[in-house]
Formats: sequence, C-alpha cells, structure tokens
Amino acid sequence: MKHSVSIIGLGYVGLTTAICFASRGINVTGIDIDKQKIRNLNKGNAEFYEKNAQKMLQKVIKNGKLKVSDNFDAVKNTEMSFLAVNTPSKKNGSMDSKFILAATKNIAKIIKEKEEHHLVIVKSTVIPNTTLKTIIPTLEKITQKKCGKDFGVVVNPEFLREGNAIYDTLHPNKIVMGSDSKKDLRKLKKLYIDFYKKLPKTVETNYSNAELIKYVNNSFLATKISFMNFVSRISEKIEGGDVEIIKKAITLDKRISPLFLNAGLGYGGSCFPKDLEAFRQFCIKEGINPRLIEDTIEINNSQPLTVVKLIKRRFKKLNGKNISILGLAFKPETDDIRNAVSITIIKELLKNGAKIKAYDPKANNNMKKYFGKKITISDTSTSCIKGTDCCIIVTEWEEFRNIQPERYIRLMRNPMLIDGRRLYNAKKYSKKIEYHAIGVSYFN
Ligand code: UGA
Repeated sequence: MKHSVSIIGLGYVGLTTAICFASRGINVTGIDIDKQKIRNLNKGNAEFYEKNAQKMLQKVIKNGKLKVSDNFDAVKNTEMSFLAVNTPSKKNGSMDSKFILAATKNIAKIIKEKEEHHLVIVKSTVIPNTTLKTIIPTLEKITQKKCGKDFGVVVNPEFLREGNAIYDTLHPNKIVMGSDSKKDLRKLKKLYIDFYKKLPKTVETNYSNAELIKYVNNSFLATKISFMNFVSRISEKIEGGDVEIIKKAITLDKRISPLFLNAGLGYGGSCFPKDLEAFRQFCIKEGINPRLIEDTIEINNSQPLTVVKLIKRRFKKLNGKNISILGLAFKPETDDIRNAVSITIIKELLKNGAKIKAYDPKANNNMKKYFGKKITISDTSTSCIKGTDCCIIVTEWEEFRNIQPERYIRLMRNPMLIDGRRLYNAKKYSKKIEYHAIGVSYFN
C-alpha cells in the first residue's frame, strides 16, 4: 500500500492504530515524546497487555512497516498525521488541551516547511469546538497557511475498547469523520477504503458534530450502566428481587439492547470517568443543566461502596478480618487499573481496618506498584481466597467462573462470597455458601 502516515502519541489508541495500519502494509511512523517508550517499542515491547498486540507489534517493527521515534521531523515524509495524544482532566474535571496543543504546534512547524499538502486527523477525544477554535487557528497562525486549502483537518474519533483494541480497530462498528472540507474527507476516506477494502458504516459530518458524537457515545453507554445499577439497588430492596430477571424481560423489547446493561460494581477505566466529567463541565460552561450526567457519575461513584456497606453490616467491625479480592483490572482482558473500582473498594476496606489479599490474572504488577506493602498480592486465585473471611469478585475474568462453591468452602476461613459482577448462578451458589450478589435481594 502506498500510503504513509504518522501517528502522534503512542498510547492505547495511537499504538493500536499504528500496529493495525502497519500490519496491512501502510507505512507508519509513530511519534511519542516518551524516550523510554520508544526504546521499549523498538524492542517490540508494547508496555501494556492487549490480545495479539505484542505479536503484531514485533512483526511490524521487524519488517519496518512501523517505525517509531521521538523526533517530529519524521512527520515530514508522511502524507497525513493522526493526533492520538491523551486529553487528561484538569483539576476541575474539564478537558486539559495541553498535550493536543503541544502536538499541534509541533506538526504546524513541519507543515510550514512542507511543500505538499498535509492532512491532520484529530483522533484524540476533544471537547466540541476544540478543532475550530483551538487546533485550526493554531495551525494557521504558525504555518501562515490556510486550512482547507494548503493543509487539511479532519476530526475522526476512536471507539475501540481496551481488551478488544486490535479487533475493534480491524472491525469497527462505524467510522465518524468530520470536516468542513469535502476534499479532506475524501482523502481520509480513501485511506480507510484501502485499509478495510469494504468501508465500515461511515458518518460524514462537520468538526463539532464529530467531536460531540464521541462524548455522547461514551456518556450514553455510561448512563445505561448507571441506570441498571440504580435498578439493582431497587431489586435488592424487594423480596426475591433480581436485576438479571428485570434485564432479561426489558431487553425482549426490541427497543432496548441488552449491551451495557450489566449491573455490577460500576464502570472504571481511562475513558468513561474522564469523559463524563469533561462533558459535565462542558454542559455547565454552555449553560445546560448537566443533571443527567451528574446522576450517572454519582451512581457510579457510590456503587463500589455498596459492597463495603454490606460487609460492614455483616461483620460489624472489620478490624482483623481478611478479605480477598478477585479481579483488579478495570475490566477483564486488560492489565489497566486506571480508575478501577477495585482501588476504591480496597482503600475503603483498609480504612476500616481489614486485611486485603488480592489477585488478578494480568494486573497484579500494576496493583503491586499502586498499593506497595499495604496489601498482599497473590499469585493464584486459590492462594488469594485461602484463609479469608469474605471474598469479593470485582472483575469478571473467565478463570473465576469455574470456581465452584465447594472450593470457596474448603479454602476460606469463613465462606462468604460477594459476586460484584454476577459471575455465578445465584440460586446454585446461595444454596451452598453465604452468597450475596449485586442486584439480588438480601432477603433471599
Ligand atoms: C470505552 C468505550 O466502550 C469505547 O467505545 C471507547 O472508545 C473508549 O471507552 C474510549 O473512550 O477510549 P473502555 O473504557 O475500553 O471503552 O471499556 P468498556 O468496555 O466500555 O468498559 C468500561 C467500564 O464499564 C468497565 O469498567 C466495565 O466493567 C464497565 N461495564 C461495562 C459495566 O459495568 N457494565 C456493563 O454492562 C458494561
């Protein structure tokens, strides 16, 4: 394939995009200011766990389709640049544009010197108006060139999920691209047609709609989760209540999709919490009542604590109690612990004097770095559960599904199980062991 692209920012989104493009023959230059990251990538080390990523990375580094560097000069030889730097939160929760702005300035310096047309693609999650009011004016000021004529800008948000990043990039539900220039949209579309052969469903719009779609997409999914966690609290209060039955029934209505309606301990990760807070701040700034978003956030923040409340109710005092935590990553199939609910739960339990043993198939090392000696990290689920007074399932890893009630009974000092992710059959487990599950009536 004759395309050559640069990708600025080699985090989850940037690196996955780079690996996938390169694996299908596009010449990719990946740029990141983190020198250690570049050294690791050159050795074929992706720095995070993601299915198939490591293997694919090694292949494209070896065959030279992906070159990585900390030097922006390499952008010069590419026809387009994807901005995939992170957009963290400021102290008040609003989006911090410092990284996107720094990357924009670096690209501008290249475009200024470059004779050929260059396309800038904003893949980072940016709050509506950022492209029109910040990115384009910055590019025009530094380059002294005109957007839409001498260079182009397209907003192209990313919808990949961690844990499925490679799959989602190769098989996206949709592509969203926004620009005021039809020519620039065509240029990006051409890349995607060559990459996918059959173009996925594509929405073409302007800059601001494309920016807004990303926030609405994430906010809607997060709201579905919080809504169901709200229903789970009601189910717990009614005799014989079970949120799973409620979900089964309502999703028979064709208008209600069952996806992202799993009640649990709440959402975590690097996206939903950050994006909802930024969206909330954006609404406030625009004079729009953000209550719907605030309720979603509030339900999510208090959801992990419902488990701690239950344990306190059960034991009265937590001093000296041993609690095991199965699952630490913010969701299965990743080693990412950013905003993981496990952290909230562990902190609260420690504060109440409990001793914690924890285990995760992939996130043990990250959690060891986070909590140090404050908790014990176990190498297996068996050693984690052993001798404890209560076990909480926090992340629904497949390997936990096979743990039968008899094993909990055999290993634990006091076999009490809290199923925070509805991993088990409530009827079966509650017959054999003290079993509590999110969304199941405590009167059962
Ligand atoms: C999310 C979106 O799903 C992606 O489309 C988006 O690209 C990404 O954010 C982003 O903005 O970069 P991700 O954070 O990787 O992806 O994870 P999800 O699979 O969405 O899960 C988020 C959290 O919701 C997890 O903690 C998960 O356990 C929780 N969740 C999910 C529930 O509690 N219940 C559900 O029914 C579904």
